[in-house]
Amino acid sequence: MNSQKLIDTAKDLVGNDKGLLAMDESNPTCNKRFDAVGIPQTEASRRSYRELIVTTPGLGESISGAILYDESIRQKTSKGSSFVDVLVEAGIIPGIKVDTGAKEMAGFPREKVTEGLDGLPARVQEYARMGARFAKWRAVIAIDPGIPSHACIEANAEALARYAAICQHAGLVPIVEPEVVMDGPHDLERCLEITRRVLHSVFNHLYVQRVLLEGIILKPNMILPGTDCPLQDDIEQVAGATVHCLLRSVPAAVAGIAFLSGGQTGELACARLNAMNVRFASKMPWPLTFSFARAIQHPALDIWSGHESTVKAAQKALLHRAKCSRAARLGHYSDEMDKA
Ligand code: 13P
Repeated sequence: MNSQKLIDTAKDLVGNDKGLLAMDESNPTCNKRFDAVGIPQTEASRRSYRELIVTTPGLGESISGAILYDESIRQKTSKGSSFVDVLVEAGIIPGIKVDTGAKEMAGFPREKVTEGLDGLPARVQEYARMGARFAKWRAVIAIDPGIPSHACIEANAEALARYAAICQHAGLVPIVEPEVVMDGPHDLERCLEITRRVLHSVFNHLYVQRVLLEGIILKPNMILPGTDCPLQDDIEQVAGATVHCLLRSVPAAVAGIAFLSGGQTGELACARLNAMNVRFASKMPWPLTFSFARAIQHPALDIWSGHESTVKAAQKALLHRAKCSRAARLGHYSDEMDKA
């Protein structure tokens, strides 16, 4: 294993005040998002939409890495350049989602375990040959009365650690994403307690599998009240709870932390990340940045809606959200800049 290469790639991704763009929606997820705004659910539409994203002028000033999907890593622009080449040309490191989805967990109703370990070493080698330098695997942990179970947390954490070891062996930096989802009426305290349990289990398994912590990026949820919780804590409370949870659970050796947005609006995700970087910059041993999908893409997808005539306006909206996210990573974000 080439440890220095992993450390260098991780630094290129998170050590430069930029963040990551997740554009790795699986075909079913991408189709669901298209359906919501009336875009045809075809390979041609998905290709056009991804071309719009990767050719956005100036994206590389805010985005250090973009996560692709098995379909998009093989796709090309209308002029015939591969998306991988377009990203590299823009100074953006290509990455790849390698899990095959969160599936129902046998014996544990309402819980899921992420699949994709079978054949993973060969797939990862193929993606590396295609130009991917990092990878992503997402585990999904739901909160509801009686769940998550110990079994669900352990099964997902072990799979994440085995995936991480396989990626590092092939020279790819693994993004380790254990997402505690926002859905439900639970409060912030319960999200905190579950996230802490999940992170402890994940890091325990990463040690067991001999994963090099300097060569991973953690992609966690923020500590939030559930979307149906009557008490919605303010930005400062979310920022404080999230940073304290991470300080107690994530070893200092980890290369960086890049949050998912999880269904938050772009504005709220930026305001919360910004508050963490403003208040706690001197206390944190790792860079704290973003790896958003919806919080960067959503306004652009709405504006595009599948029409050639709206591509430029959609790219402008995408760039704006990317710039706001980068400002939040630096602690320079404000409502005023967002509305400008
Ligand atoms: P969201 O930012 O939309 O939560 O997506 C991030 C991601 O990559 C989920 O796996």
